[in-house]
Amino acid sequence: MRILVVYHSQTGNTEKMAEAIGQGAEEAGGSLIVAPVDQIPPHIVNAAQAVIFGSPCYFGNMCWKIKRLIDQTASLIGEFTNKIGGYFVSSGSKKDGEMTLYFLRRALEVHKMRIVPGILCVGTPTEEILEECRRYGAQIAQMEI
Ligand SMILES: Cc1cc2nc3c(=O)[nH]c(=O)nc-3n(C[C@H](O)[C@H](O)[C@H](O)COP(=O)(O)O)c2cc1C
Repeated sequence: MRILVVYHSQTGNTEKMAEAIGQGAEEAGGSLIVAPVDQIPPHIVNAAQAVIFGSPCYFGNMCWKIKRLIDQTASLIGEFTNKIGGYFVSSGSKKDGEMTLYFLRRALEVHKMRIVPGILCVGTPTEEILEECRRYGAQIAQMEI
Protein backbone atom coordinates (compact mmCIF):
# COMPACT_ATOMS: atom_id res chain seq x y z
CA MET A 1 0.00 0.00 0.00
CA ARG A 2 1.23 3.49 -0.84
CA ILE A 3 0.89 5.53 2.34
CA LEU A 4 1.39 9.25 2.73
CA VAL A 5 1.80 10.80 6.18
CA VAL A 6 1.64 14.56 5.69
CA TYR A 7 1.92 16.91 8.64
CA HIS A 8 2.79 20.35 9.92
CA SER A 9 4.80 20.86 13.07
CA GLN A 10 6.47 23.95 14.50
CA THR A 11 7.71 22.61 17.83
CA GLY A 12 8.05 18.93 17.04
CA ASN A 13 5.07 17.24 18.73
CA THR A 14 3.09 16.50 15.58
CA GLU A 15 6.31 15.49 13.84
CA LYS A 16 7.08 12.88 16.52
CA MET A 17 3.62 11.41 16.03
CA ALA A 18 4.09 11.41 12.23
CA GLU A 19 7.39 9.58 12.53
CA ALA A 20 5.92 6.96 14.87
CA ILE A 21 2.93 6.39 12.56
CA GLY A 22 5.35 6.09 9.64
CA GLN A 23 7.50 3.62 11.55
CA GLY A 24 4.49 1.43 12.35
CA ALA A 25 3.27 1.58 8.76
CA GLU A 26 6.68 0.72 7.35
CA GLU A 27 7.21 -2.19 9.72
CA ALA A 28 3.82 -3.52 8.62
CA GLY A 29 4.97 -3.45 4.99
CA GLY A 30 3.61 -0.17 3.67
CA SER A 31 5.44 1.86 1.05
CA LEU A 32 5.80 5.18 2.72
CA ILE A 33 6.26 8.92 2.41
CA VAL A 34 6.39 10.91 5.65
CA ALA A 35 6.75 14.59 4.82
CA PRO A 36 6.03 18.11 6.04
CA VAL A 37 3.06 19.68 4.30
CA ASP A 38 5.24 22.27 2.53
CA GLN A 39 6.80 19.47 0.48
CA ILE A 40 3.56 17.83 -0.63
CA PRO A 41 1.57 19.07 -3.64
CA PRO A 42 -2.01 17.79 -4.13
CA HIS A 43 -1.06 15.31 -6.88
CA ILE A 44 1.10 13.40 -4.38
CA VAL A 45 -1.93 13.16 -2.11
CA ASN A 46 -3.89 11.79 -5.04
CA ALA A 47 -1.23 9.16 -5.79
CA ALA A 48 -1.41 7.65 -2.30
CA GLN A 49 -3.77 4.82 -1.38
CA ALA A 50 -3.84 5.88 2.27
CA VAL A 51 -3.43 9.48 3.38
CA ILE A 52 -2.84 10.35 7.02
CA PHE A 53 -3.05 14.06 7.87
CA GLY A 54 -1.34 15.42 10.99
CA SER A 55 -1.94 18.89 12.38
CA PRO A 56 -1.26 20.83 15.53
CA CYS A 57 -4.35 22.52 16.95
CA TYR A 58 -4.23 26.25 16.21
CA PHE A 59 -7.10 28.30 17.63
CA GLY A 60 -9.33 25.27 18.00
CA ASN A 61 -8.84 24.04 14.46
CA MET A 62 -6.29 22.46 12.15
CA CYS A 63 -3.42 24.72 11.07
CA TRP A 64 -3.87 26.63 7.83
CA LYS A 65 -1.21 24.74 5.92
CA ILE A 66 -3.02 21.43 6.34
CA LYS A 67 -6.35 23.13 5.59
CA ARG A 68 -4.83 24.66 2.46
CA LEU A 69 -3.64 21.27 1.22
CA ILE A 70 -7.07 19.77 1.86
CA ASP A 71 -8.74 22.71 0.11
CA GLN A 72 -6.43 22.14 -2.86
CA THR A 73 -7.94 18.67 -3.25
CA ALA A 74 -11.42 20.10 -3.85
CA SER A 75 -11.25 19.38 -7.57
CA LEU A 76 -10.57 15.73 -6.70
CA ILE A 77 -13.82 15.17 -4.81
CA GLY A 78 -15.18 11.82 -5.88
CA GLU A 79 -11.73 10.40 -6.57
CA PHE A 80 -10.81 9.61 -2.95
CA THR A 81 -13.62 7.19 -2.17
CA ASN A 82 -11.36 4.13 -2.26
CA LYS A 83 -8.62 5.81 -0.27
CA ILE A 84 -8.07 5.19 3.40
CA GLY A 85 -8.11 8.41 5.42
CA GLY A 86 -6.33 8.83 8.74
CA TYR A 87 -5.61 11.86 10.91
CA PHE A 88 -3.84 12.87 14.09
CA VAL A 89 -3.61 15.99 16.20
CA SER A 90 -1.30 17.53 18.74
CA SER A 91 -2.81 20.17 21.02
CA GLY A 92 -2.42 22.00 24.29
CA SER A 93 -5.87 21.09 25.58
CA LYS A 94 -8.13 18.08 25.18
CA LYS A 95 -11.19 20.13 24.26
CA ASP A 96 -9.51 22.01 21.41
CA GLY A 97 -7.68 18.89 20.27
CA GLU A 98 -10.99 17.05 19.98
CA MET A 99 -12.44 19.90 17.94
CA THR A 100 -9.46 19.66 15.61
CA LEU A 101 -9.91 15.91 15.25
CA TYR A 102 -13.55 16.58 14.39
CA PHE A 103 -12.68 19.09 11.65
CA LEU A 104 -10.07 16.81 10.11
CA ARG A 105 -12.45 13.89 10.19
CA ARG A 106 -15.15 16.01 8.60
CA ALA A 107 -12.88 16.83 5.66
CA LEU A 108 -12.21 13.14 5.09
CA GLU A 109 -15.94 12.45 5.33
CA VAL A 110 -16.62 15.03 2.62
CA HIS A 111 -14.14 13.13 0.45
CA LYS A 112 -16.01 9.92 1.39
CA MET A 113 -12.71 8.31 2.34
CA ARG A 114 -12.52 5.07 4.35
CA ILE A 115 -11.87 6.70 7.70
CA VAL A 116 -9.80 5.22 10.49
CA PRO A 117 -10.58 7.19 13.71
CA GLY A 118 -7.68 9.47 14.54
CA ILE A 119 -5.33 9.99 17.46
CA LEU A 120 -5.09 12.99 19.79
CA CYS A 121 -2.02 13.83 21.83
CA VAL A 122 -2.29 16.61 24.42
CA GLY A 123 1.17 18.10 25.05
CA THR A 124 4.46 16.34 24.42
CA PRO A 125 3.93 12.79 23.11
CA THR A 126 4.63 10.12 25.74
CA GLU A 127 6.07 6.72 24.86
CA GLU A 128 2.54 5.37 25.33
CA ILE A 129 1.11 7.75 22.70
CA LEU A 130 3.98 7.02 20.33
CA GLU A 131 3.23 3.32 20.68
CA GLU A 132 -0.41 4.07 19.87
CA CYS A 133 0.82 5.95 16.80
CA ARG A 134 2.93 2.96 15.69
CA ARG A 135 -0.07 0.66 16.09
CA TYR A 136 -2.19 3.15 14.12
CA GLY A 137 0.29 3.18 11.23
CA ALA A 138 0.47 -0.62 11.26
CA GLN A 139 -3.32 -0.92 11.34
CA ILE A 140 -3.66 1.26 8.26
CA ALA A 141 -0.84 -0.51 6.40
CA GLN A 142 -2.56 -3.84 6.96
CA MET A 143 -5.96 -2.81 5.64
CA GLU A 144 -7.34 -4.24 2.42
CA ILE A 145 -7.17 -1.90 -0.57
C1 LIG B 1 -0.53 29.71 16.83
C2 LIG B 1 -0.85 28.65 17.85
C3 LIG B 1 -2.18 28.49 18.25
C4 LIG B 1 -2.50 27.49 19.16
N1 LIG B 1 -3.81 27.34 19.51
C5 LIG B 1 -4.17 26.34 20.36
C6 LIG B 1 -5.53 26.15 20.73
O1 LIG B 1 -6.44 26.88 20.32
N2 LIG B 1 -5.82 25.13 21.55
C7 LIG B 1 -4.88 24.27 22.05
O2 LIG B 1 -5.23 23.36 22.78
N3 LIG B 1 -3.57 24.43 21.72
C8 LIG B 1 -3.20 25.44 20.90
N4 LIG B 1 -1.87 25.62 20.56
C9 LIG B 1 -0.87 24.68 21.10
C10 LIG B 1 -0.43 23.65 20.06
O3 LIG B 1 -1.54 22.98 19.49
C11 LIG B 1 0.47 22.60 20.72
O4 LIG B 1 1.57 23.23 21.34
C12 LIG B 1 0.97 21.55 19.74
O5 LIG B 1 1.55 20.48 20.46
C13 LIG B 1 1.99 22.12 18.77
O6 LIG B 1 2.36 21.10 17.86
P1 LIG B 1 3.81 21.06 17.21
O7 LIG B 1 4.80 20.82 18.34
O8 LIG B 1 3.77 19.92 16.25
O9 LIG B 1 4.06 22.36 16.53
C14 LIG B 1 -1.50 26.64 19.68
C15 LIG B 1 -0.16 26.85 19.30
C16 LIG B 1 0.16 27.83 18.39
C17 LIG B 1 1.60 28.02 17.97
